Amino acid sequence: MSTRRVFSGIQPTADSFHLGNYLGAVRQWVALQEDRDAVYCVVNLHALTVPYDPEALRRRTRVAAAQLMAAGIDPERSILFLQSQVPEHAELTWVLSGVTGFGEASRMTQFKDKAAKTGADSASVGLFTYPVLMAADILLYQTDEVPVGEDQRQHLELSRTLAGRFNHRFGKTFVVPDAYILRAVGKITDLQDPVSKMSKTSSSPQGIIDLLDEPGVIRKKIARAVTDAESQVRADEENKPGVTNLLRIYSALASEPMDDIAARYGDSGYGTFKKDLAEIMVDTFAPIRERTMAILADPDGLEKVLANGADRARAIARETMTAVRDHAGLPGAPASG
Ligand code: TYM
Repeated sequence: MSTRRVFSGIQPTADSFHLGNYLGAVRQWVALQEDRDAVYCVVNLHALTVPYDPEALRRRTRVAAAQLMAAGIDPERSILFLQSQVPEHAELTWVLSGVTGFGEASRMTQFKDKAAKTGADSASVGLFTYPVLMAADILLYQTDEVPVGEDQRQHLELSRTLAGRFNHRFGKTFVVPDAYILRAVGKITDLQDPVSKMSKTSSSPQGIIDLLDEPGVIRKKIARAVTDAESQVRADEENKPGVTNLLRIYSALASEPMDDIAARYGDSGYGTFKKDLAEIMVDTFAPIRERTMAILADPDGLEKVLANGADRARAIARETMTAVRDHAGLPGAPASG
């Protein structure tokens, strides 16, 4: 049996990834390199769907790639690349948009939530078709599994639907991808509002921990994380969402079952529990932060790594697009020279 292909992407829309990105996605990306054929992408084209500053986007794209490497993505073993360096993503998006229903796209809850914030009239058409670009990302690489957080599940379903529909209409072209979502870490919540997702767009600075936060900032944010009026460390999603979120984070970072952690801290109050959690987080993030800075200090080296990733990604993407054009009745660009 051939090695299974995984593909995933992350947006460069902030100056750092946050704890939810790390636990919900990036950590799995690193682990999956071991025995999968892994392709990872900084999806800078997705970042064009909201108003943005080109210089900030350029900087954040570099920082995103550096952080992925610092977190453990090995660009020799995995393919790591920037979406804008492989033009087939945009081309396949257009082809897939022809088999996507308007109603189907209208039911995407992330679009509805984001459009509700700005008002549907000022939301861009790109924001609306964003899940089609995401489907193109995944389907171009004949992906078997997509490691993501819970918030991407509906988009993943759409990718599966579009792959199946295209195959049915035009003949087998795409692998139909499966979601790879870990229940325990699929939804890390906001430290100040523990029933809502930790999110770069809607969380307050106190509610979100950035991978690149200084140790002192991490300690403060954990100390101020919302808990409850009891003093017992135990998991109870309904009644103790704040403590349960912290337990989940602790359990993931320390690779220790939640029950064992809860039993150890028990009724001793939240002080020591939070202090210990903050130290585990600082120990995990400090080396990532240092490596990120070191990688960014050599911009030429980073550019070379990404150019190599784009070459390798493009070889796969080209092959898929040739099949797509062939099946869909589209002559490609004539060979030059
Ligand atoms: P993005 O950039 O918002 O987030 C990157 C990854 O982090 C996960 N995530 C979380 N996981 C757990 N708890 C949270 N609070 C949390 N917040 C974010 C996301 O689920 C995601 O896996 N549309 C995607 C990017 C994308 C993509 C793709 C992903 C574009 N093309 C193709 C997979 C395959 C997005 O906006 O993720």
